[in-house]
Amino acid sequence: MQDDLERVLFGEAEIAARLNEMAVQITEDYRGKDLTVLAILNGSLFFMADLLRRIPLPLKLDCLRVKSYYGGTETTGRVQYDPQTLPDMSGRHVLLLDDILDSGHTLAAITEVLRTEPGLLSVKSCVLVRKLKKRAREVKADYVGFDIPDEFVVGYGLDYQERYRNLPLIGILRI
Ligand code: IMP
Ligand code: MG
Repeated sequence: MQDDLERVLFGEAEIAARLNEMAVQITEDYRGKDLTVLAILNGSLFFMADLLRRIPLPLKLDCLRVKSYYGGTETTGRVQYDPQTLPDMSGRHVLLLDDILDSGHTLAAITEVLRTEPGLLSVKSCVLVRKLKKRAREVKADYVGFDIPDEFVVGYGLDYQERYRNLPLIGILRI
């Protein structure tokens, strides 16, 4: 798989070290609060598993399957999910987890939906990777692993046409 990359951006050790730092910060911020992590699948699978095991809080975990790509390397801007799979969020502090912040459509859409949930206490977002670019939707991520240039990356959960998610590092795909 690595032969298909133009360049490696972050290796396994570097990702692990950054996750340690992020986990410390999230643990401090949510200590004593009833934290629910809402992980956006499939992209955040590996990030979710590795980050959450570093957070020693009795958090709850829910997942939401979201789609916006349908094959290419550009978002369609249509963020689709099944509203019936959205858990009850009342009384909860929610931390949204996604693999990457690109156009902003996904985080903006899901944050908007959550904000209309009755009784929700707070919503913040956390991404492993943030592309430095002008976004279609201006959304801020509260916790960011790495900033990268506006390139198409794969690995550590990030896919190209559903492949390369299991690559243990993050790199720029040669397309
Ligand atoms: P956004 O809605 O454009 O911010 O993008 C969010 C989703 O697009 C992510 O959850 C990814 O699934 C996908 N995505 C955006 N950029 C990349 C990339 O460089 N590589 C792989 N997937 C990406
Ligand atoms: Mg994807």
